[in-house]
Amino acid sequence: MPPESLIGFIGGTGPEGLGLALRFALSKLKVVIGSRSIENAELAVEKIQSKVPDGLISYGLNKEVAEKCDPVFIAVPYQAQQSTLQELRDSLVNKTVISVVAPLKFEKGVAMSQKVPAGSAALEAAQILDKSTVASGFHNISARDLLDPDALIDSDVIVFSDNDECKSITMELAKLLRGARAIDGGGLVNSRYTEDLTALLLNINKTYKAHSAIRITGIKI
Ligand SMILES: NC(=O)c1ccc[n+]([C@@H]2O[C@H](COP(=O)([O-])OP(=O)(O)OC[C@H]3O[C@@H](n4cnc5c(N)ncnc54)[C@H](OP(=O)(O)O)[C@@H]3O)[C@@H](O)[C@H]2O)c1
Repeated sequence: MPPESLIGFIGGTGPEGLGLALRFALSKLKVVIGSRSIENAELAVEKIQSKVPDGLISYGLNKEVAEKCDPVFIAVPYQAQQSTLQELRDSLVNKTVISVVAPLKFEKGVAMSQKVPAGSAALEAAQILDKSTVASGFHNISARDLLDPDALIDSDVIVFSDNDECKSITMELAKLLRGARAIDGGGLVNSRYTEDLTALLLNINKTYKAHSAIRITGIKI
């Protein structure tokens, strides 16, 4: 990825997109926070600018961000994914798109994974964005840890893509999270395993009042 690349975040005002943007800004990359509302985007940027005063952080409406950035992170709730991607499809042609979307629902305070007809949120994104290259990952990292610039990211980031260059860009970004390892999880068909695991981690967090994450053992990187 060229160092001058603009990294965009669709739904970047939420904790996950904003947390990743903060971390990449700490690594001196240029990030652009996207939102449906320019006021929301501006407020979100103010939040992270206070933590990364010299960060190269800008903002815009989701469509503007999709048009000018590459790579582009998709960080909206699963329930908003289809409509959001359909609207942005043409702006994302020939770009690297990275989905962090985990299809979740909550019943009586318990997190559950939601069944996706395409097999996973990432496969659904790739079906809609058939002229983009799609990767997925970062599903198992706590946004709260990402938003604390001093917190070590004690986790593996398993990355999935059917395109080698797209996977490699995503893994390079994952390695910028201090403490994290990037692991090649294979094709998008495997994304559902870490997407679903997010629900389990949220329930474990509740029991232990913690920010749980995952590590893969038995491999040498
Ligand atoms: N939070 C975590 O710890 C975590 C960890 C791993 C993965 N994830 C995944 O990352 C994604 C983002 O998580 P999050 O916690 O940051 O989510 P969130 O706060 O619920 O939503 C992120 C942003 O999406 C936009 N949005 C909400 N509803 C929308 C709709 N109906 N249509 C279009 N945009 C909408 C909002 O931005 P505007 O209102 O500004 O447009 C919102 O700030 C989710 O898919 C989640 O499963 C989250």
